[in-house]
Order: sequence, then C-alpha cells, then structure tokens
Amino acid sequence: MGSMLELKDVTLFIDRGGEVQPLLADVTASFPRGHFAAIIGPSGCGKSTLLKVIAGIAHGEEEGGLYWEGRDLMGGSDFAASEIGYVPQFSIAHDELTVSESVGYAIRLRVGGATSGNVRAGTAQALKEVGLSEFADRRVAVLSGGQKRRLSLAMEVVSRPVILLADEVTSGLDPQAEDEISHVLHDLSNDGERVVLSVTHSLQHLELYDSVLVLTGGVLAYHGPPDALAHYFRCEDPRDLYARLETRQPEEWAKSWKKHHAAFRGMITGRIPSEPKSIHFESDGGPLETEQEREQESGAGTVASEPPSVSSEAVRAPGALSQFLTLTARKLRIFSRDKTQLLLQAGLILGFPVLVAIFAWNGLPAVQNLSMDMNQGLLQQMKENATFLVQGSKIGSLVSGIVMFQVILLTLMGANNSGREIASERLIFEKEKLSGLRPGAYVASKAVFLALLVLAQSAWMGFFVHVVCGFPGPLEAQLLFLILVNAAMTSVCLAISSLMRTAEQASLVSIYLVGFQLPLSGAVLALPEWAGVLTRPFIAAYWSWSGILQTLHDERYYDIVQMVIQTALSPSALCLWVLVCHIFAGLVVTLVGCQRTRMI
Ligand SMILES: Nc1ncnc2c1ncn2[C@@H]1O[C@H](COP(=O)(O)OP(=O)(O)O)[C@@H](O)[C@H]1O
Ligand SMILES: [Mg+2]
Repeated sequence: MGSMLELKDVTLFIDRGGEVQPLLADVTASFPRGHFAAIIGPSGCGKSTLLKVIAGIAHGEEEGGLYWEGRDLMGGSDFAASEIGYVPQFSIAHDELTVSESVGYAIRLRVGGATSGNVRAGTAQALKEVGLSEFADRRVAVLSGGQKRRLSLAMEVVSRPVILLADEVTSGLDPQAEDEISHVLHDLSNDGERVVLSVTHSLQHLELYDSVLVLTGGVLAYHGPPDALAHYFRCEDPRDLYARLETRQPEEWAKSWKKHHAAFRGMITGRIPSEPKSIHFESDGGPLETEQEREQESGAGTVASEPPSVSSEAVRAPGALSQFLTLTARKLRIFSRDKTQLLLQAGLILGFPVLVAIFAWNGLPAVQNLSMDMNQGLLQQMKENATFLVQGSKIGSLVSGIVMFQVILLTLMGANNSGREIASERLIFEKEKLSGLRPGAYVASKAVFLALLVLAQSAWMGFFVHVVCGFPGPLEAQLLFLILVNAAMTSVCLAISSLMRTAEQASLVSIYLVGFQLPLSGAVLALPEWAGVLTRPFIAAYWSWSGILQTLHDERYYDIVQMVIQTALSPSALCLWVLVCHIFAGLVVTLVGCQRTRMI
C-alpha cells in the first residue's frame, strides 16, 4: 500500500557529553492516509523526539527510513514545508493579535498567491474546522488553554498538510476541553487524506484513535488498535498501562513486540470519511503466553475517494517580498496594540531629550572672546588668561558632555529597541521557519520596523537639544550621527538577540554593551593608547561623539572643546563609515543567527 507514512527502524542517536546514546531505537510503524494515531508512553520516553524526527527537526544522528508514499523524507526529498503540520507544546500565536488575525497571517505567510478573499475564506474554514468560529475576534492573550491549542491547530491546517503532528495538545486541560480537542483532531483526520499523529499522556478516549503507538524508553512496545491494547499488555483497563510498562525493561517490551507485531499489521487502517473505523482484532492469549503469530495480509486500509480538503498538490510558500510585507504589517499591528511598549517608547522619546536639556536649560553660555590686549599690564593679562581658561574649559566640557549624553541615551534606546526582539519570540520564529518562513524576510521586517523607531528617537533628540539648548553647528550633520549611533546599537543588539538562548540573556548582554560605551569611548577619561586602539573600533558612542564634535569645526566652540577633551577626534568620514559598518555587521550576524536552528 503506497499511500502511507512509513517508519522503518527509525533510530536517533545524540551525543551526551561525549557519550553517544540512542533516544529512539528501531521504531517501525506505518500509518495509512485518513488515520488518527495516539503516541503514548511515560514522560521522557521519546514521544516528542519521535514527532520531531518525522517533522525533520530532530537534533542528532538519524538512522533508518522515513517514507511518505515512497518518498524518502530523511534522505532530503522535496517534501514541502506545507505538507507537514507540526503543533508544538507551546503557543505559536502572538498575544496581541485576535484569533482570526493570527490565522490570517498564518495563511499569508504560508500560502503563496493568497488573495484577501482567499485569506478570509481560509480563515473562516480553519476556524470552523477547529471549532473556534465564535471566538474569531477574541485576543489570543485572553483565550483559555484549550482555545489556544485549537488556534495552533487552525494555524497549522491552513496549508492543508498531509501529515499533522500534535505534541500534547490535550495536556493540562480540563477533561471537557481535552475531550473536545481529541474530537477536533479526530475530525481533522477524517477526510481520508491526512495522517494525524497525536502525542498524549491521556489514556481516556482511546477509542477515538485508529491506532495507538506505545513507546517506552525510546523503543516501540506496541502499535495496534486501541481495543487490543489492554489485552496485549494484559491489564484490566488501559489506564493501568503505565504501571504495567514499569514491570519490564524497555528492551523486553521491544523484543516482545518484535515477535507479535506481524499479527497487528493488517489492523492499521485508514478510514472512509465520517465512518467508524473497523477493528478485526480477536483476542487470544497475548504476548506473554503464546508465541503464535498471525500473519494478516495488509491492504485492509480503506482510503477515501471523496473530494479531499487536503489538496494533492502541495501548497507553495509565498515569495520573500510577500512574507516581508506580511511580517512588517504584523509587527506594526502588534506594536500598536502593546500599550506598555507604546507608553515606554513615548516616555523614552520625549523624556530623554529633556534629561539632556536640563544641563543646558538656559542655552549654552557664550564664548567670550577675551581680548589679549598687549597694552594691559602683565598681571591683568594673566588674570584674563586664567579666567578664559576656566570659563573655556567649563564650556568645552559642557559641549562635549551634552553630545556624549545624547549619544549614550541613544545607545540605551538602541539596546532597548532590539535586545529582546528576536530572542523573546524565538520559538514562534523557529516554528514559522519550519512552515516555510524565510529568515531574510524576517530580518528585513525587523530592520524596517526598528528603522522607524530609530528615526523617531534620534530625530527628536537632535532637534529638541538643538532648539531648546541652542546647540551650535549644522543640525542635519549632527542628526546623521545621532541616527547612525542609534541604528548601530540597535543593529548590534538585534544580532545579540538572534544569537542568545533567552530574552533575559540577550537583554543583559545588550545592557552591558551600553554600560561599556561611556568609559571606553575615551570621552570622560583617556584610555592608554594601546587600550584605545583595541577597544575603540567596537565603541559606537566614540564614533558618533567624535563625528558630532567635528561638525562644530567652524564654530568658536571647536577650539575650546579640543582644549578639554582627553581623546583625539577622528575625521568625520571615518566616523561615518565605522558606524555604517556596525549597522551592516549587526544585520549580517542577525541573518546568520536567524538561519541557525534553535531547539524547538
Ligand atoms: N537534544 C537532546 N539532547 C539530549 N537529550 C535529549 C534531547 N532531546 C530530548 N532529550 C531527552 O530524551 C528523552 C526523550 O525526550 P522527549 O522525546 O522529549 O520525551 P517525551 O516522551 O516526554 O516527549 C528525555 O530523557 C529527554 O531529556
Ligand atoms: Mg514531550
């Protein structure tokens, strides 16, 4: 029988501290189209691992074979991302969106060439399939656990996957919700085309499944009809299964199953849509008493000929540009809905420039052009000279300080813009990548969104300080360096966010990076020559500070600033290019970080 998902001696080795161990060993099973199977077994027995192997996202050394209608999935066949739906244990939707928006974006990101009409119809259809129609306008944040699982399912079925893998979507729910989701999963396999595999802890409602696969210690202990399960394991009630499994070593269960599996082969069948499954198992003895094997010819599967809702042709993912536009629109919508984030940004954008301006609220003191009149007495001259020095050094420090203060606050905003951006949604992003999202489109959408933030923050900072403090020099050139330093920090912290495991780690590293800007810039205290040479290339604040002070070249302030600063300024063009390099390097590393697969 060609139409099926086949696992042949599937084995997965992992390297645990130098020791290679199998997480799964010799799992052999097949599932025809229109089949609904439960994968059960004690905690840590390898259920999630098995789903990940089938989804093609397991980490480790794989052996054995995995076939869909003869296509070799392990050997890198041309199986499209849309053909496998994988519902992980975590929520894959953004809290700020509504149910129908989440499904709508899932369609736009996964289904190529979808028109607005397609999206609307597809959303309605998916919500109907999982029983969420009446909650279409509800925010994800306020959904119940069960509703969230349904939403995850709805977001997976939009690309009409032929294999749907669900990892503990019923766990942690109340019995009624668990019951409802089991029925939803059952119905999703009911069109006769799709294989649905559901990992579950629950031994309730086993009768809903066409087959039950029991794993223990990474090995297969049983794969057969649910109503033969209790008999096979010789327990009164299927619910005693876990206790029963503990009575023997996994290897013994595996050996036992190898002896008896042939008798069950014919019983793994598909279903005619909406018709109850048929079970042909007759109990006799069981594996512990009889070694008798009953060969049954396979082929008992009944595959539907009804028009399938699963298309026989795989859905194509949209192009990178389309995904980029969808992600950018989604990001803007999520941002506009997050009241805390909006308030925080408004506070930073409006408040930080005021903080700078406080230091020069009445405008910068004018530089007195003290005359060095030769006709005056020497003492008078020296007095004026001394006054000039004192006054000059105060003004010079103020100008340099105001520049550095603006720059540091903008690096802080930069770190705040992007430090958590990718790390905090990494699991969702990995999931979306699995469903065909291109990392390039994702990074580009982040870049555009962050660029808008950076522009607002830097432009207002520069403009406000220029007007309120009467900061001298050309505004446009100074704005350029303010924008560049903010963009450089935002870009570098985005890279950090793409490399770190958790959002907490990423924001910690980002904040440290900001903390080092001021001391290592050399604007306050000079560094030893060698230390300056080593660190300066990485300190964006120095290049922006230096670039802005260079714009004062034609002002009277320039000479007194030169007089007080401890560290030499660099040419404007060099400052500009170093900052551009920071931005560019940050984006490249972000792309690399996003292409790397993180554990799901
Ligand atoms: N990448 C990995 N590296 C090391 N150990 C792993 C890895 N993935 C899973 N494990 C371990 O493998 C076993 C099976 O894990 P899993 O498939 O998640 O079990 P479960 O049946 O509870 O879903 C567990 O003991 C788990 O700790
Ligand atoms: Mg698991």
